[in-house]
Amino acid sequence: MSVLIKGGRIITAADDYVGDIYVENGTVSLIGESLDQPADRVIDAAGKYVIPGAIDPHTHLEMYFGGTTTCDDFTSGTVSAAFGGTTTLIDFCVQTPGDTFAQALEKYHEKIERAKPVIDVGFHIAVTDLKNGGTLEDLAKLPDEGVTSYKLFMAYKGAVMVDDETLFRTMQTAAETGAIVMVHAENGDAIDVLVKKALAEGHREPVWHTRTRPPETEGEATNRAIQLAHVAGAPLYVVHVSCKEAIEPIATARMKDWQAWGETCPQYLFVDESFLERPNFEGGKYIYTPPPRAKENQEHLWHALATNVLSAVSTDHCPFNWQGQKTLGKDDFSKIPNGGPGIENRLHMLHHYGVRAGRFSMNRFVELTSTNIAKFFGLYPRKGTIAVGSDADIVVWDPEKRLTISAKTHHTRVDYNLFEGHEVVGAPEVVLVRGQVIVEGDELVAQPGAGQFVKRARFGEELLARARAVA
Ligand code: URP
Ligand code: ZN
Ligand code: ZN
Repeated sequence: MSVLIKGGRIITAADDYVGDIYVENGTVSLIGESLDQPADRVIDAAGKYVIPGAIDPHTHLEMYFGGTTTCDDFTSGTVSAAFGGTTTLIDFCVQTPGDTFAQALEKYHEKIERAKPVIDVGFHIAVTDLKNGGTLEDLAKLPDEGVTSYKLFMAYKGAVMVDDETLFRTMQTAAETGAIVMVHAENGDAIDVLVKKALAEGHREPVWHTRTRPPETEGEATNRAIQLAHVAGAPLYVVHVSCKEAIEPIATARMKDWQAWGETCPQYLFVDESFLERPNFEGGKYIYTPPPRAKENQEHLWHALATNVLSAVSTDHCPFNWQGQKTLGKDDFSKIPNGGPGIENRLHMLHHYGVRAGRFSMNRFVELTSTNIAKFFGLYPRKGTIAVGSDADIVVWDPEKRLTISAKTHHTRVDYNLFEGHEVVGAPEVVLVRGQVIVEGDELVAQPGAGQFVKRARFGEELLARARAVA
């Protein structure tokens, strides 16, 4: 199968030029001007941007959490991602306490076998327990299986939270095996005390979710993780950074050239704590963790994205229906399952409010949503760029297409949209995964199973190998 993409404005993290791309057997085989190779399919991209498929390193599909299971599986979740221009996602394979890591992974491989995803899928392992089932020796074997990132939760006490010993030992193992460590950074012990106090005082409304998780608890945990990872010698990636208090320690670490980076998510750029006060339990839609913050944090986050203090934007797509799932906590904020949807709208929102609003360039947009993520998680340069030899994961982006974001038209199963009613300009026109067209305009044209499991390289491994080959 060959595809010729003609006349588009090819934009990577580093380049911006008009050209043609020739794809053979799933990879980019030629880039140039006026290519006329015979092709099974020719795509006219004149007037459009041609960008690397986005990578979402933070999703929770078909995950049991907070007493219920997220409502997208690897079919609906990947279809929704594809419509938003995402061609690879990396989901969290969460270890059920008592399971070995191999058992945990087997369950996730079964999920994707069953679901036949339409985009490529990788896994991070989420370490929840090193005392029953999981051992550091087993953890050390995972990079050979292409699972090269270890995630730990510093919050959710009594559920998936780990203590500092588990955190630090995992970091030490990562330093030995070449994995990158990811943390959900909040002080779960302090939050637990605050939640219990609020409940004892009779507070039940959704807004208490944010009142019991002050930004300092995120700042403290972020700093703790950074310091411990530095001592252990492990690279660290802080997920879903939501506030100034967490940006600051990352900025300090970046200035010192420590191996610490952070991502944020669109919900922290557009939703603030006042949304939790919306009447008739509408506030329940915005219960995710860390919580929506005071509005001034949004400018701090935009600035951190523009200045390379934060390095990526993921979605943390963790969809629970408002009716039937969020309502589990209608009378008690602490029982509302934590998580928000967003897998489809990351690029729409960032293009409109980031690029079109002049906050950052298209190159930076590509870097934040694809290239940097590929580099952190062992996918670059196979993915995250458009270059000869790379997977032909490509989005033909129409910079003028208008869209009103709504739960009525999105493709996830969840019954609401965090960005309902936003009118954005810019959307994917054609989406390809390894040279196969999976989305065309408003149509899904993917064959079920178009996506594959992606084995990822160790942190920096491919880059180092290339550097050595050149030297
Ligand atoms: O509220 C959230 N973010 N739920 C998903 C799990 C996590 O903390 O990422
Ligand atoms: Zn988290
Ligand atoms: Zn998450």
